[in-house]
Amino acid sequence: MSDKTPWPLLKKKFQIDIPKGLPADLWAELIPKDNPMSAAKVSLGEKLYFDKRLSVDRTVSCATCHDPATALADNNAVGIGIKSLKGARNAPTVLNSMFNELQFWDGRAPTLEEQAKLPIINPLEMGMKDHNVVVDRVREAAEYRPLFRSAFGNETITIDAIANAIAAFERTQLSGDSPFDRFIAGDNNAISDAAKRGWDLYNGQGRCISCHAWNASQPFFSDFKFHNIGVAAKDQNITALARKARQLISQGRNKTQVTDELTLREGFSELGRYLVTGQPRDIGAFKTSMLRDIELTAPYMHNGSEKTLLDVMKFYNKGGEINPNFDGGMRPLKLTDPQLDEMVEFMKTLTSDATRRRMQTSKPQTRDVAR
Ligand code: HEC
Ligand code: HEC
Repeated sequence: MSDKTPWPLLKKKFQIDIPKGLPADLWAELIPKDNPMSAAKVSLGEKLYFDKRLSVDRTVSCATCHDPATALADNNAVGIGIKSLKGARNAPTVLNSMFNELQFWDGRAPTLEEQAKLPIINPLEMGMKDHNVVVDRVREAAEYRPLFRSAFGNETITIDAIANAIAAFERTQLSGDSPFDRFIAGDNNAISDAAKRGWDLYNGQGRCISCHAWNASQPFFSDFKFHNIGVAAKDQNITALARKARQLISQGRNKTQVTDELTLREGFSELGRYLVTGQPRDIGAFKTSMLRDIELTAPYMHNGSEKTLLDVMKFYNKGGEINPNFDGGMRPLKLTDPQLDEMVEFMKTLTSDATRRRMQTSKPQTRDVAR
């Protein structure tokens, strides 16, 4: 592994070091049978992840929007791709993304492998015309051939091989060993008294646990389900918009690609899970976010509409925003200002020391043209 991965995740013979607080058995279980891990594949995936030549004008890589200098996310409200084109959704962190049951805010990609193919051909992100162009670009770069040989046993470069390598790299991008993990492991001094009161509120009056579920075997603070908590889809014309979206998707030749492009258009983007399922109850529903390292990945929500964690708490305290498809689990919380602060204190205990260190020691990605 190169020095971009600062902690020795890959021990001898690929005995991966799973950070404290994360379930090693689940990690192993989630490695797909048809894409086994190997050190060679991971290091190829890492190179591809950071390679700006995968975008049409050679200025944007995966790392541009999922940058180690910003906890494998960015601090923009919405993703900014080639030529500074803006999408409509906030870039989530890639850290622990392998534990997502489905990928993206609306779950439209089932696996990391499928996910990785989409930004490359997305017109507002990396802008390649189709996957053949990407494959040609990687074939042109002679240094890749031996790397594909060591990763896959041959030099045949395909979009599937590219996606498999990137996904393998992503499965090494883990975050754990936070003060909260040490507290749960028995170190009572690992977090402050205010944060402990915040954790009690999280489980009690705050009702967070009902969606941001936590337990030792699934310690990611998400139920991985989709809820409309009123961040979007509040407009009167949302039903008309929903009808229009169904039409566009059913008429499109490539449904995955049409859906992917609609998610980047303001208005349509707010339909959330509905774009994937076509079920009216999914209008405005988005995936419950994982909360590890949340302090480092502002702004918040699928559209980056909340600037700080205190803003998020104020949003929940007023009960979210009522709209036609509002989740039944939402209601005003009647928390006092000091209690809101305690909940923010609690969320800050979910930051991994390693992730913070890596942020401080990584040079931010630039948008210079790659040669
Ligand atoms: C222009 C910025 C941009 C680029 C470039 C980009 N992404 Fe993303 N990424 C985003 C945004 C925005 C989302 C959320 C989109 C959505 O959910 O509709 C996202 C979502 C994801 C997710 C899903 C995470 C989750 O919690 O659901 C993964 C994984 C991911 N990207 C990996 C990658 C990889 C791998 C690449 C390179 C092949 C890449 N991204 C390129 C902005 C970007
Ligand atoms: C009814 C389910 C539900 C409840 C209850 C709930 N959340 Fe959420 N949370 C979500 C969903 C869904 C999202 C994403 C919503 C969106 O972007 O549209 C989210 C987003 C967030 C985010 C932003 C994450 C990011 O990466 O941008 C934070 C922080 C958060 N919730 C914290 C909390 C806290 C703290 C509580 C308790 C006070 C709570 N949530 C209660 C479902 C819920």
